[in-house]
Amino acid sequence: MVVLVLSEVAATELNLEESFTTHAGIAHTRWATHGVPAPRNSHPQTSGSGNDFLVVHNGVITNYEVLKETLVRHGFTFESETDTEVIPKLAKFVFDKANEEGDQTVTFSQVVLEVMRHLEGAYALIFKSRHYPNELIACKRGSPLLLGVKELNDDVCNGSAFHDAKFLSKNGNPKELFLSSDANAIIEHTKKVLVIEDGEVVHLKEGGVSILKFNNDKGRNGDSLSARPASVQRALSILEMEVEQINKGKYKHYMQKEIHEQPESLTTTMRGRLLRGGSCKAKTVLLGGLKDHLKTIRRSRRIVFIGCGTSYNAALAARPILEELSGVPVTMEIASDLLDRQGPIYREDTAVFVSQSGETADTLLALEYTLENGALCVGITNTVGSVIARNTHCGVHINAGCEIGVASTKAYTSQIVVMAMLALAIGGDTISKQERREAIIDGLFDLPNKIREVLKLDQEMKDLAKLLIAEQSLLVFGRGYNYATALEGALKVKEVALMHSEGILAGEMKHGPLALVDENLPIVVIATHDACFSKQQSVIQQLRARKGRLIVMCSKGDAASVCPGGGCRVIEVPQVEDCLQPVVNIVPFQLLAYHLTVLRGYNVDQPRNLAKSVTTQ
Ligand code: AGP
Repeated sequence: MVVLVLSEVAATELNLEESFTTHAGIAHTRWATHGVPAPRNSHPQTSGSGNDFLVVHNGVITNYEVLKETLVRHGFTFESETDTEVIPKLAKFVFDKANEEGDQTVTFSQVVLEVMRHLEGAYALIFKSRHYPNELIACKRGSPLLLGVKELNDDVCNGSAFHDAKFLSKNGNPKELFLSSDANAIIEHTKKVLVIEDGEVVHLKEGGVSILKFNNDKGRNGDSLSARPASVQRALSILEMEVEQINKGKYKHYMQKEIHEQPESLTTTMRGRLLRGGSCKAKTVLLGGLKDHLKTIRRSRRIVFIGCGTSYNAALAARPILEELSGVPVTMEIASDLLDRQGPIYREDTAVFVSQSGETADTLLALEYTLENGALCVGITNTVGSVIARNTHCGVHINAGCEIGVASTKAYTSQIVVMAMLALAIGGDTISKQERREAIIDGLFDLPNKIREVLKLDQEMKDLAKLLIAEQSLLVFGRGYNYATALEGALKVKEVALMHSEGILAGEMKHGPLALVDENLPIVVIATHDACFSKQQSVIQQLRARKGRLIVMCSKGDAASVCPGGGCRVIEVPQVEDCLQPVVNIVPFQLLAYHLTVLRGYNVDQPRNLAKSVTTQ
């Protein structure tokens, strides 16, 4: 195995001229969750000057302060502000103690099992130690971890199961093994992966690999050093993605690529799920992953949407159509808030978990909480094999393709489309709603074309970005279906362009936000044609009466009626069925956020302080 070691800590020991037949290395690309971004707070973290143990960590150790106090009492000194630093130091403590007690045979996995026993919180960890050359140990609890398997003459693995080290070495081919928290990091090397589960310990030794399941039992002496974990055997999975998906192609940034990919990503999301029906058959929706649960969902006391950030906004956009077609009350929960409140969840509820990554810590914990409370749990994710996909009772994959930009764009529009299809599926075939249902299905078929049309606003949004480049703040007013668009549009501008931006429910305007209005603050009002149109016209009038600096988003041909007499900047978008309008309306905001970010000189794909998948609380 050949893996490059890139780290402050290990760099001093690297001999770049030396070649190995077997080599194991670790590296990390994120800043630590604790402490300022600085070399001392980056990973690997070390047990001390001799680098006896080195650790990379994705997650948060919640009891690190207690562990640190104990280790300090035993003579350890700490150099970083990270939670992670306790882990290699604890490993050294365990190793030294075993040796002092005369156990010269303590194995690397025994040391790690004992360390794991003391850790609280969430983690995916990889350990390296000078006491165990050419070995790596990885383990996880709560945070994602994948083992990628590549034989350099790679045909023996096809359709095979993962057994143990012998499986990998039986034909003597050289091999590469990859441990990663994200499939994107592995895909250019291999598609064959094993999704590591909580409590499993992966041991790479001399190019071979074995996986042990840690069952939390204590061994004879009351510690893990003498516990006997069981060996793990299960099938390798094949990643359903292509290397091309992680290339930028003709685009400068992933966010730009992903915005422009939306006609195709939406087509893929709907593929095989919309049925036009024959001459006398009605148009219908087929969601294979849900069909056995539809009756239960229809009988639910309520449907609860749970998610964070953009995924929450997508659910908010779909809420009205779900209420309308299903007749079931729909409530919204931001995952962290549900957990903070320990809000009521009932056995008769259906909880729908929306998450692009399927690995967001808050959403995962809310899922655990909801499962404990006995509700039916439905997952809507973009990531096959993710924890949310695996741990929910049923669900739908949005199939938007790999999304790499930290700012979620194509996943958002695909999530709304999946939830509109969910509403159609739950709504069933009542005659009274047939016309409405068919109009939505027709609208879905035509949606990719409408997105192609709205993408033509690219230059117009770039021009608008030039106008807004030096602004401090941007308000976005929306209501009804487009309250979510206001929140999501503002979130996009905020997270990548680093400009303060706030999405406001237009109905709340007079209850506070109106005080902010003057001739300087730019305000976008979403006033596309739907049941709330006349109310939004009135909002525009009131803002204009206070000399508000308005940018109005309206349906094509409505410019004169939203801004009589001119004086506002107008963005005209194609009109679609009201419940699908948020899918169209968000695109100009995505383009605006993208261009603003580039013009302001910020990093589009990796905004300051943010990570693509938020695997810690
Ligand atoms: C989206 O642009 C954000 N980066 C963020 O709000 C994200 O949507 C949120 O962290 C939830 O992620 P998930 O969909 O992977 O659960």
